[in-house]
Amino acid sequence: MGRTVIVGPGAMGRLHAALLAKAGVDVVLLDYRPERAKDLRERGVVLRHASGEEHVALSVMANPEEVGPADLVVLMVKAYSTEWAARHVLAAATDETVWATLQNGLGNIESIRRVVPSAVLVAGVTTTGANLAADGSVNIAAVGGTIVGPIETASLADAQRLSVTWQQAGLACEVVPDPWPTIWRKLVVNAAINPIAGLAGRPNGDVVEVDHLWRLAAAVAREVASVARAEAVDLGAGFDPVEAVAEVCRLTATNRCSLLQDLVAGRRTEIDYINGEVAKRASPEASAPLCEALTTLVEAAEAQHSSSADPEGN
Ligand code: PAF
Repeated sequence: MGRTVIVGPGAMGRLHAALLAKAGVDVVLLDYRPERAKDLRERGVVLRHASGEEHVALSVMANPEEVGPADLVVLMVKAYSTEWAARHVLAAATDETVWATLQNGLGNIESIRRVVPSAVLVAGVTTTGANLAADGSVNIAAVGGTIVGPIETASLADAQRLSVTWQQAGLACEVVPDPWPTIWRKLVVNAAINPIAGLAGRPNGDVVEVDHLWRLAAAVAREVASVARAEAVDLGAGFDPVEAVAEVCRLTATNRCSLLQDLVAGRRTEIDYINGEVAKRASPEASAPLCEALTTLVEAAEAQHSSSADPEGN
C-alpha cells in the first residue's frame, strides 16, 4: 500500500488522518494553509472521546508538490470546495491514484471529474461524526462505519484500496458494487434533518420530537425518496425514508448537525449539494418543492451570517 493523502484539515480530515497515522499507515494530511499545516505538524492533533483524550503526531503538508505520489486521495472538504481541493491536490496524483469521496450530498463526483476527467473514482458514506473544538482538537461523537463502492469504470478492487486502508486503522468499511443507493439513503437523512435543525437552531433529536418540525422532516424524506426513485435509484425494499430519518434523529439526539454548526460559525453551508441538488433533479413525476424552499431559506440565512472566505470551509 502506498501513500494515502487526506485533503482537508476539518474535524473529519484530522480524525481520519490521526487514526490512520496511529495505525502506522503512510498518511499525509494536506492543508492548503501553510501556517496552520506547520502548527498541526508541530503540535499534532488531540482526539477527544467519551473515555478521555489522546494526542497523535501527524504528517501535515501544505505543498501538494511535496506530498505525492499518492496511492489514495480522500477528499474530506465541504462539498462546495471539492473542485478547488481536487485541483489543489492534483500535483500529488498519478494516473493510478484512487480518488475517494465520502462527503455529504451529491455533486462531488462531478466536481472531481471536472478537474480529472479520467480519475479512478470511488464514493460512499460514513456515519462517523466529529466536530472541531475552538482549540483545534477533535470531539468524536461516534466512530461509525463506512460503505464505499466504485463509480463508472472503477472496479471493486479500487474501492478495496480504501477499505483495506480504513481497516488497518480499525475502521469498519464495507465495499459494495453500487454505492448510489447508500449515497441516496444518506441524502434522504441529511436533506430531512440538516436544513430543519439548522433553521430551527435545534439539536437533531428535536426534529423528531417537535410535532411541526417532524411533519416537515417526514414530508422532505418522502420527497427525496421519490426523486431517488425517479432517478432509478433502488433504495431497497426494506428502506422506509421516514423511519430512517427518525432513527438518525434518535441516535444523534443531542448532536447539532453540520448545517447548524456552519450557520452559527458564519460559514457557507452544504445546502446546495443536499436539498439544492435534489431540487435540481426534480421532474414533473417527482417534484421537490420542499427541498427548493428549504434551499432558498438556508441561503437567506447564510447571507445574513456569512463571514467565511475559506475555500475549504475549514
Ligand atoms: O450532517 C450531519 O450533521 C450528519 O450527517 C447528521 C446525520 C445529520 C447527524 O448530525
